[in-house]
Amino acid sequence: MQILQIIASAQGANSYSTRLSQGIIDKLRAAHPGSTVVVRNLATHPLPYLEEAHLQAYFTPAEGRSPAQQQAVRHSDEIIAELLAADVLVIGSPFYNFTIAASLKSWLDHLTRANLTFRYTEAGPEGLVTGKKVYVAIASGGVYSQGPAQASDFAAPYLRQILGFLGMTDVTIARAEGVKLPEFQPTALQKGLASVAV
Ligand SMILES: Cc1cc2nc3c(=O)[nH]c(=O)nc-3n(C[C@H](O)[C@H](O)[C@H](O)COP(=O)(O)O)c2cc1C
Repeated sequence: MQILQIIASAQGANSYSTRLSQGIIDKLRAAHPGSTVVVRNLATHPLPYLEEAHLQAYFTPAEGRSPAQQQAVRHSDEIIAELLAADVLVIGSPFYNFTIAASLKSWLDHLTRANLTFRYTEAGPEGLVTGKKVYVAIASGGVYSQGPAQASDFAAPYLRQILGFLGMTDVTIARAEGVKLPEFQPTALQKGLASVAV
């Protein structure tokens, strides 16, 4: 089984979302010995924000692209191939300012390409990235899975939406939440990991 791990936290080894992702991967590897893991660290190797050059290249058929346009699609083609090669996707998502990290958004922006990862049909849009299991490990300072802040969670609903749009509908969300709250912090990671059965 091939696992793709996406790291988006800028907090290195101290990151809760990365540690929770790692815990999920450890469980997956124990259940599926011989699994391989490909790591894409968006914090240390960020993708650019979408610029005009990317968009023009994306909307130009491959055979008609100039050398500069071929260069402009390269990183997008690479992350799409990396995702398509994986059986399982594990995304670590730090909760920044009520939503996902900009680095993760940029990865999604370069992943979402018509006729490669989704297409429009007469019946509406169709995701082309199918057959994958996805785990999302969200780490947040507050508690968003329930209670008064639930309505301010623009991370989990958004990730479900965009992953589903691309065809990834089998999504399990695990949370290390309340890491900035003394009553939640000591058990946050352990609770998040215990919530995931592989
Ligand atoms: C730039 C920034 C913005 C943050 N915004 C929020 C927020 O809106 N809500 C919240 O509960 N915690 C917020 N936090 C706390 C983080 O969610 C918390 O530190 C979490 O552990 C980040 O994930 P990580 O440990 O994987 O880096 C923020 C932290 C940073 C650094």
